[in-house]
Amino acid sequence: MKNQVGLYFVVVLFTASLVLLGVNACEREGGDGTTQSSQRVTKKSGKSTADIKVSGDPIMAELTAPPYVPKPVGNREAKKLKVEMEIIEEVGEMIDGVEYVYWTFGGTVPGSFIRTRVGDEIEFTLQNHPDNKLPHNIDLHAVTGPGGGAESSFIAPGREAVFSFKTLHPGLYVYHCATAPVGMHIANGMYGLILVEPEGGLAPVDKEYYVMQGDFYTEGEYGERGMQAFSMSKAIKEMADYVVFNGKVGALLGDDALTAKVGETVRLFLGNGGPNLVSSFHIIGEIFDRVYVEGGTSFIENIQTTLIPAGGAAMIEFKVDVPGSLILVDHSIFRAFNKGALGMINVEGEENEKIFSGQIREGIYLPEGGAVQEMPKRDRGGASEVSAKNLEEKIKFGKSVYMRTCFACHQAEGQGIPNAFPPLAASDYMNGDVSKSIDAVIHGLEGEITVNGVKYDGIMPSQNLADEEVANVLTYIYSQWDNDGSVVSPEMVKKRR
Ligand code: CU
Repeated sequence: MKNQVGLYFVVVLFTASLVLLGVNACEREGGDGTTQSSQRVTKKSGKSTADIKVSGDPIMAELTAPPYVPKPVGNREAKKLKVEMEIIEEVGEMIDGVEYVYWTFGGTVPGSFIRTRVGDEIEFTLQNHPDNKLPHNIDLHAVTGPGGGAESSFIAPGREAVFSFKTLHPGLYVYHCATAPVGMHIANGMYGLILVEPEGGLAPVDKEYYVMQGDFYTEGEYGERGMQAFSMSKAIKEMADYVVFNGKVGALLGDDALTAKVGETVRLFLGNGGPNLVSSFHIIGEIFDRVYVEGGTSFIENIQTTLIPAGGAAMIEFKVDVPGSLILVDHSIFRAFNKGALGMINVEGEENEKIFSGQIREGIYLPEGGAVQEMPKRDRGGASEVSAKNLEEKIKFGKSVYMRTCFACHQAEGQGIPNAFPPLAASDYMNGDVSKSIDAVIHGLEGEITVNGVKYDGIMPSQNLADEEVANVLTYIYSQWDNDGSVVSPEMVKKRR
């Protein structure tokens, strides 16, 4: 009897499962009767995206360098879309005075942005420039197929490869090089984004930008001048020297900051090339109206910080309501203030005191650099790695120290920040007394001072810089902004230690 009851339940459960499976299968059936997951059926026609026919002549894909994106696909039919991308190995600047050999898709980090719609047939031509030293390939996360195209696109310098694929899933996808050692190729900048818009396109917005985070590993420390080689051992230990947006420190700062006007809607196509670090992407001063989580098709609303995995993406949308500077950061915050993960959107327009009233202190969130607020860990009195040969070089090297160490507080034009950091421009505190300036840099400064008639009562930490770096940066400051042109030598600095 017990066994019969047991058997009865097994049969009932089995039948129930079949019914459930049947219902499921019905829901999942595509227009042609094949079973499809819901994401692969277009909302409009209910067709399997694999069955979308391409129409008309093939078209060349518009590719753009960051932070810009190609025109939206809008209402166009699915097409045969030709993408031509060239791999270029080239020297670039990681930060003022620091050079790095980047490996790039299309000459930029991140690589050229590719914009497609679901159902497009992409004919992808990948070219490896003859001057390059290494073989490369491309793995596009938007590809359904072996290696995301990596095997089909593996090419030596001076060769090209063509392969094709159909975009089945709408979303925002990372592409990257997948040539061994894979981590090294990605670490040198070989990543970018490809967007697959849904049928009918994404909703129109006023501004769209392309921003991608990456972590970099160099033989020297943050800001150490000269050509810096890739450090495999730091990369393996995940000890990044630089964490940046769009390939370098300051790619989205100053003249290169993004812009928007009050009342505009902004969409950011965000990616994270890694190779190692996950991004806690945040914009200081803004809340995301919508986040298309991990670059997929569903969104969440009213978000402060969104995680972007290494090798992943996100689309965020927000309306800008008040003027000022919005600050893009990785909220793993030392990366932002000390490793470079900092960008800006400058918003112009009318104030709206209903939404925000009060003092805007833009600039306070600029890079502090690796030397700031750091306990001295070694004797930095000796010469820095490269010595300036003449005054012109002194000023040039000094500027690079300034941009990574002083700029955050004293600002690009030495104007300082009202009520917080005194100006260095036309400074009656500095001009005529070089020793006072040297002391401030090497010993720090505390207590009330008056600069150009205005009182300041803050703390300037002592700076962990070599004598020559101090000499260079002060010479730079004295050469700028109506200062008196004093020249400071490493010997003068040494005497004040
Ligand atoms: Cu590569």
